[in-house]
Amino acid sequence: MTANARRKILVTSALPYANGSLHLGHLLEQVQTDIWVRFQKSRGHDCLYVCADDAHGTAIMLTAEKLGITAEQQIASIRQEHERDSAGFLIGFDNFYSTHSEENRFWCESIYQRLKDNGHIASRTITQAFDPEKQLFLADRFIKGTCPRCKTEDQYGDNCEACGATYSPAELIDPVSAISGAIPVKKESTHFFFKLPEYEAMLKEWLASGTLQPQVANKLREWTDAGLQEWDISRDAPYFGFEIPGEPGKYFYVWLDAPIGYIASFQHYCDRTGHDFDSYWQPDTDTELYHFIGKDIINFHGLFWPAVLYGAGLRTPTAVYVHGFLTVNGTKMSKSRGTFIKAGTYLEHLDAEYLRYYFAAKLNASVDDIDLNLEDFVQRVNSDVVGKIVNIASRCAGFLRKGFDNKLTSTCAEQQLVEDFIGGGDAIAALYEQREFNKAMREIVALADRANQYIDEKKPWVLAKQEGTGQQVHEVCSVGINLFRVLMTYLKPVLPAMAEKAEAFLNCSLDWSALDAPLLDHELARFKPLLTRIDSKHVAAMVEASAEAQTEAVAPPAKAPLPAAQATQPRGDIIQFEDFARIDLRIVEIVAAEHVEGADKLLRLTLSLGDSDSPADQKQVFAGIKSAYQPEDLVGKLTVMVVNLAPRKMRFGVSEGMVLAAGPGGKELFLLEPHAGARPGMQVK
Ligand code: MSP
Ligand code: ZN
Repeated sequence: MTANARRKILVTSALPYANGSLHLGHLLEQVQTDIWVRFQKSRGHDCLYVCADDAHGTAIMLTAEKLGITAEQQIASIRQEHERDSAGFLIGFDNFYSTHSEENRFWCESIYQRLKDNGHIASRTITQAFDPEKQLFLADRFIKGTCPRCKTEDQYGDNCEACGATYSPAELIDPVSAISGAIPVKKESTHFFFKLPEYEAMLKEWLASGTLQPQVANKLREWTDAGLQEWDISRDAPYFGFEIPGEPGKYFYVWLDAPIGYIASFQHYCDRTGHDFDSYWQPDTDTELYHFIGKDIINFHGLFWPAVLYGAGLRTPTAVYVHGFLTVNGTKMSKSRGTFIKAGTYLEHLDAEYLRYYFAAKLNASVDDIDLNLEDFVQRVNSDVVGKIVNIASRCAGFLRKGFDNKLTSTCAEQQLVEDFIGGGDAIAALYEQREFNKAMREIVALADRANQYIDEKKPWVLAKQEGTGQQVHEVCSVGINLFRVLMTYLKPVLPAMAEKAEAFLNCSLDWSALDAPLLDHELARFKPLLTRIDSKHVAAMVEASAEAQTEAVAPPAKAPLPAAQATQPRGDIIQFEDFARIDLRIVEIVAAEHVEGADKLLRLTLSLGDSDSPADQKQVFAGIKSAYQPEDLVGKLTVMVVNLAPRKMRFGVSEGMVLAAGPGGKELFLLEPHAGARPGMQVK
């Protein structure tokens, strides 16, 4: 592909919900988008990547309420975490914003007004389930009850997990609100609808235009074939979102304002930088607009969104690029198996670029799921990136430094080979453009194999020991470095940090559009390790930490209803005797106690279960008793400890159990102290 005119491209990935942490599934999407965007930029195009947090909706409102904070506080703290995690994975957003912003309010109101003026909004009264205790209308997923078919209790909203039946929540036997446990009543209210059926012809044409992946278009055609329904775009108070102008107590449904958030984030970028905004949204624009999303939200992006844009007189997307779901070790990410891995947990244990490369090596343009097989991950990254790519540079750099002042030869000994590598760039670029990243990686690794083969054949380490072959060593290693430079240029969209280190070493920028000739007579900087091998111990530690994190209180997962137990059962819920009997309580001796820097409530206790001198019998526990005890007063005392509690990683270290204390709190907090005769290690009955 030859470099065509400079394209103006706007790219988005889906806006993550602001009620939970990012996990590796979210990162699959952001990495896919980021690689594509970095590729476009490297080809000299004006390509911008915007995103935001999706901050509205009932779930976020309830999460904040449960945490005892305002929705604004909740979305602010999650936004910080999301931005930190995305940055950790080297996601180069040009703008990351929030749907809870004035720009978004403006665009929601103005798009709604245009739709209304054009006669595309209907209103009518509907009857819905209502929680009389919370004074809240209940979406299907906030109602539970007994399955009308198989009679299994405690089934959510509209389908039964036990027998797979689908039904309307009205058919549930003994329905209750999943939020308060109250029995829902029926209540009427006025709702506003977007008249989607009016767009049938437009959508059929859009689905036939070839802009969507065939599997996606087929799936969406099931909707148009079944007959499009009007789309309910309003929700009643209380709701965390934007109130509809002129309709007190009525709010825009989160799925109306979320995609408009793409426009709002771009607006914010343009206001901040002076970049042109208007030309991107005109129907006849020559700018390009791409949305990267997962397969679970195609109806919103493939039907509602283009119709809303079209109805409001704005441009429709150039394409919607849908990816499959991330599985880990062949199955859905699972909390108990430790494969529900949060972005932050990954980053505590492993380098982001390992995963960026692995995702690239697996991603393609289809909607098939992508599996992260943890063994394959270690093997593949170590073999391809460290064993093949980095290896080219590290085997040549030493000879060049020792014998040739880090300088490359002034003529190229293998002109054809270097030209072949540069000539491979067009095919690789075409693969990036088509999102066939796995094929692009295969091409690059095949070239790396050729480079290593060349070095293996020439054996500079043998030549270096012989007399009179110094010139050959210089030539071979200079060719090797030139081949490495070409490969790193191709890999730069995937491995931006490693590319930066390579640029420092090569003492030149890796610029795809400037790749036309080898580097000659060029001085290198000192070689520093570019990426080290993955140690599978770190992968194991990450899995362990992910399994442990499950025991910590977490906000409900995105898109899922509040788990029943959390929603309806406050603390103090009933456990069975068998559960209680599993708790192993032991007498322990406090052999050391100290303040924990940075913690206002915690003391670090070293507890002995037996011989107080033997480290093997000792456990570390962080206890929130600083308000009541001075550390020095505790040493030598006996107390009671839960010894079979799963270890928990805290900010200050791992806590391997709990000590038991009682009291109202503050200064009056009493450690349980066993009577005389108790010995460390004794079981408490
Ligand atoms: N807030 C909506 C999107 C609004 S866009 C205007 C949403 N949020 S989400 O947090 O649930 O998901 C964000 C993106 O991550 C979606 O594209 C979703 O498909 C993707 N993924 C969530 N879990 C995923 C996997 N396990 N694997 C791959 N992608 C996943 O939906
Ligand atoms: Zn059932």
